[in-house]
Amino acid sequence: MEKLVIKNLHVAVEGNVILNGVNLTLNAGETIALVGPNGHGKSTLLQVIMGHPRYRVLEGSITLDGKDVLAMSVDERSRAGLFLGMQYPSEVPGVINADFFKAAINAKRKEKGEKLLSAMELFHILHNATKELNVSVDLANRSLNEGFSGGEKKRNEILQMMLLEEDVNMLDEIDSGLDVDALQDVAKQIVALHEKGKAFIIISHYPRLFELVHPSRVVVMMNGVVAIEGGKEIIDKIDEKGYEVLALEYGVKLEKRDEAMKNVSIEFCPGNGSF
Ligand SMILES: Nc1ncnc2c1ncn2[C@@H]1O[C@H](COP(=O)(O)OP(=O)(O)OP(=O)(O)O)[C@@H](O)[C@H]1O
Ligand SMILES: [Mg+2]
Repeated sequence: MEKLVIKNLHVAVEGNVILNGVNLTLNAGETIALVGPNGHGKSTLLQVIMGHPRYRVLEGSITLDGKDVLAMSVDERSRAGLFLGMQYPSEVPGVINADFFKAAINAKRKEKGEKLLSAMELFHILHNATKELNVSVDLANRSLNEGFSGGEKKRNEILQMMLLEEDVNMLDEIDSGLDVDALQDVAKQIVALHEKGKAFIIISHYPRLFELVHPSRVVVMMNGVVAIEGGKEIIDKIDEKGYEVLALEYGVKLEKRDEAMKNVSIEFCPGNGSF
């Protein structure tokens, strides 16, 4: 993978316009810290990149090495190298975690024409990955996320990330709900994949994770657009002074999102409605 490029992306959900022209490029091996006040479109952006059907693309493009991501189904996006660790992972009763991992890994192997996983190989992979992440291998034998604690759900997302080793890893508040030791374990896996040249977009509200994974760039979403870009100093500034002061310093008029989106109808927006 060379580049994930998002251009002039406008997105609506259930009649509300949430993204108002996002421009962002993620280069191979880069780690972007994606931050911003609650409700300003961070999760929306990652969900749209991954292909959540709830969101309607009104205008703009997303390309991965020149290929049209918006024209791909979710599984095609995954096979093209995109991974999303979700803010709120869904519980899927009846789907055993290990079977889910196996299906995902085999889909990738099939795409590449590689030999499919045997039960023994799966056992070894899961044994090693759970050990590295400091979680019980028993998680693999339960239904996907069903009854998992908040921290276990987040670590299960990281397990998927470790097993799939995609080129682009998008992690949405992966640190929320993790205890301090778990945070270290998760950060270690992010760094390990980064060292293998993988790229990341990481959303977090807390500087601690960013201290551990050293983002190359900090991107601030406000009002549904990339409003500010910079280095680590932006995170320090947000931590010390908050978003209102940051917006003021950069000349951004920070909207209250709920109010800004009220009465906005998608009828008034241009676009093709890709979903
Ligand atoms: N299905 C929906 N119907 C109406 N509004 C929605 C829907 N889904 C999301 N939104 C709104 O879109 C806005 C952006 O939400 P998003 O989840 O992208 O924010 P965020 O920046 O990730 O916030 P947070 O930091 O709180 O996670 C919010 O105001 C949210 O209420
Ligand atoms: Mg969010």
